[in-house]
Amino acid sequence: MRVLGIETSCDETAVALIECSGKIPARILAEEISSQTHIHEQYGGVVPELAAREHLRNLPLLLERVLSDARLDIDALDLIAVTRGPGLKGCLLIGLDFAKGLALGSGKPLLGVNHIEGHILSAMLDNPELEFPFLALIVSGGHTEILDVRAVGDYRVVARTKDDAAGEAFDKSANLLGFTYPGGAKLAALADSVALLPIPRELELPQVMRDADGFSFSGLKTAIALKVKKSARELQDPQQRALLAKSIQSGIVSTLTDKLSVAITDTGCRRVVVSGGVSANRALREAVSALPKVSVYVPSSRHCMDNAAMIAYTGALRFAAGERGGFDMEPESRWPVERMRIAA
Ligand code: KG4
Ligand code: ZN
Repeated sequence: MRVLGIETSCDETAVALIECSGKIPARILAEEISSQTHIHEQYGGVVPELAAREHLRNLPLLLERVLSDARLDIDALDLIAVTRGPGLKGCLLIGLDFAKGLALGSGKPLLGVNHIEGHILSAMLDNPELEFPFLALIVSGGHTEILDVRAVGDYRVVARTKDDAAGEAFDKSANLLGFTYPGGAKLAALADSVALLPIPRELELPQVMRDADGFSFSGLKTAIALKVKKSARELQDPQQRALLAKSIQSGIVSTLTDKLSVAITDTGCRRVVVSGGVSANRALREAVSALPKVSVYVPSSRHCMDNAAMIAYTGALRFAAGERGGFDMEPESRWPVERMRIAA
């Protein structure tokens, strides 16, 4: 079946067209992502109204480009899948209304998709050999959780963040080091520039809140802020600044891998998916791969971040499992993924 995916939950407008039939690996026919980073950068975070306006402007353009790249028209589609939540309400609404209009006009079925479920299943889209069950570490700008994934629609929360998400911890720390929003990847690049050097004792961060249930980055964030303030003079030296970035990255990564190793021991599950924007982080990938006897699956770099192929793919799997959507659905800005049982 040919599925059109539409994603507008935050600051990326994305449209994708995939072909997906039974056991044959899904094929991407065309995909487009338009990032709004340059717009939100000057405000230090995503401005929801500006993001919604950009989605409205971008969607028709991206749709036209995807259909033309795939040399298909709307009649050739079998399903339209759109992100219904979680995310920014105004942004979700633009995507939903656009998808409803397309589906109504063309007579095609419509399904609302959970964005986090998209991140979980995107690892299967890019690694067709991956089988259930697996553990999924979802790390993005808005979410940080470990899920025990048994089947499509069967997700149990093992650990979830109590405060900031891992991406937020990266972005806020990057901001303290003087990088513009979103600074996660910039901090990571600086940290990797001194990958071979040891972190000096005075730049090490304390291991805070490690034994609490779920993830917490607030203690680490305070420790980072104090360290930046205390080391202001040393940080004028580029190498010291890079070493502090490395120390921060290592603190965030080990917070994630500590919890992940407990989850692996508790569940006995040795297949691990790492997905969401922060899964692009090299140090995180290496640390997860270094866990004993674990097979790690990560989506392609294009699909680590927000994208529409994962939404189309999730829609296809749920449609194949018997789920049918409707036109009366509203955006769900909070939509826990563990509630996504298949409604056939
Ligand atoms: O999944 P995503 O594209 O959007 C959300 O749903 O949030 O994740 C974006 C987050 C941002 O916080 C960004 O700084 C972070 O992922 N990120 C990184 C890296 N690349 C993106 N964080 C650390 N290292 C990276 N290489
Ligand atoms: Zn995301």
